[in-house]
Amino acid sequence: MRVLLAGATGTAGKAVLHALLQSNHSVVAVARTPPQRAQHPNLTWLSWKDLDRASHASAPIDIVISCLASRSGSAQDSHEVDYLANQRLLDWASQHGIGHFILLSAICVQKPRLAFQHAKLRFENALRNAEIPWTIIRPTAFFKSLAGQIPRIQRGKPFLVFGDGELTACKPISERDLADYIVACIGNPLRMNQTLPIGGPGPAITPLDQAIFLSDAFKKPIALRSVSPKMFDAAEWGLDRFSKLSGWCRDKAEFCRIGKYYATESMLIWDAVHARYSAEQTPETGSDTLADFYQKIASGESLQPSLGEHSLF
Ligand SMILES: NC(=O)c1ccc[n+]([C@@H]2O[C@H](COP(=O)([O-])OP(=O)(O)OC[C@H]3O[C@@H](n4cnc5c(N)ncnc54)[C@H](OP(=O)(O)O)[C@@H]3O)[C@@H](O)[C@H]2O)c1
Repeated sequence: MRVLLAGATGTAGKAVLHALLQSNHSVVAVARTPPQRAQHPNLTWLSWKDLDRASHASAPIDIVISCLASRSGSAQDSHEVDYLANQRLLDWASQHGIGHFILLSAICVQKPRLAFQHAKLRFENALRNAEIPWTIIRPTAFFKSLAGQIPRIQRGKPFLVFGDGELTACKPISERDLADYIVACIGNPLRMNQTLPIGGPGPAITPLDQAIFLSDAFKKPIALRSVSPKMFDAAEWGLDRFSKLSGWCRDKAEFCRIGKYYATESMLIWDAVHARYSAEQTPETGSDTLADFYQKIASGESLQPSLGEHSLF
C-alpha cells in the first residue's frame, strides 16, 4: 500500500513510520520540518505546503494515517492541529478518493473535559460523517508518557505520586505495539468504520506500581512524595481570573486542568453503568511491558528501532 502519514515526527508517528516501512508499505510523510536524517528508499518527505503535490505522485495514495496532535494542548493549538489540520487531511483524502482514513485519537476523549479532547471529538465526528471508510484508534497511555520522572529518579529525587499513588490506573501500551496495531488496521474489514479503544497487555498499573518497577529496574529503593491534585485547582483558580485579559493565563489555566485530569482520571474504559473505570473492559494488544521498558532504560539499552542500514531518527 502507499500511505500518506501525518505526524511522522511525533512519538507515535515515528513508530508507525517504522512499522509501515518494516511491512513493506511505501510512505509519503507530511511534516512541518521534514527531518534530514530519516531516509529510506520507500519513504518520501513532503512539507504541508506541498500536500497537493502528493496527488500528482506517480503512484496514487491508498490510505491516510494521522498521528497529528497539538504539542502544547492549549485550546488554540488543539483547534488548529487536532481539528483543523486533520480536517485539511480529510478534505484532501476525500478529494482524492482515498480508500481508508486511520486516525490516532486518545482513550481520554470518552470523558471529555479539556479543550484538546473536544477538538479531537469534533474531528472524530467529522471523520465518521465523511464518505470515506475510517478507523479511529483510542489508545491508553504510551510508555514514553510514563517515563517522565526517570531523570528525577536518576538524580536521587523522590517519585511524585498524586494522593496515595492509586488514584488512577492504565494499561500502558508501547509505541511499537500501538504502531503494529495501527498498521494491522490496513485492509482489515473487521476494523473498518470502528472506534477502537486499545491498551497494552495487562494488568492495569497504578503510579505506585510504576515506582516499584522503577525501583526494580534501577536496583535501589525509591522514595515517594505525595502531592495533592487539589494544587491544580488552586493554581487554575488564580490563573482563570485573568484568562479574559491574558492568553498566557488562559493557556496556563488549561494546563492546570490537564494536570488535574491526568492526576485523577484513569486511562481505561469508562464503565458508565457502574460509574467506574474498568481494566477488564479495556482491550489489550501486544506484548511489551512497562517493567521491561524501565529495565531497558536502566541498562542503557538503545530504544531506537532500526531498519537494517537505515536509521530513521
Ligand atoms: N502520549 C500519550 O501517552 C498518548 C496516550 C493516548 C493517546 N495519545 C494520542 O496519540 C496521538 C499522538 O501523540 P504523540 O505523543 O505521538 O504526539 P507528539 O509526539 O506530540 O507528536 C505530534 C505530531 O503532530 C505534529 N504537529 C504538531 N503540531 C503541528 C502543526 N501545527 N502542524 C503540523 N503538524 C503538527 C508534530 O510535528 P512536529 O514534529 O513538527 O512538532 C508531530 O509529528 C495524539 O492524538 C495523542 O493525544 C497520546
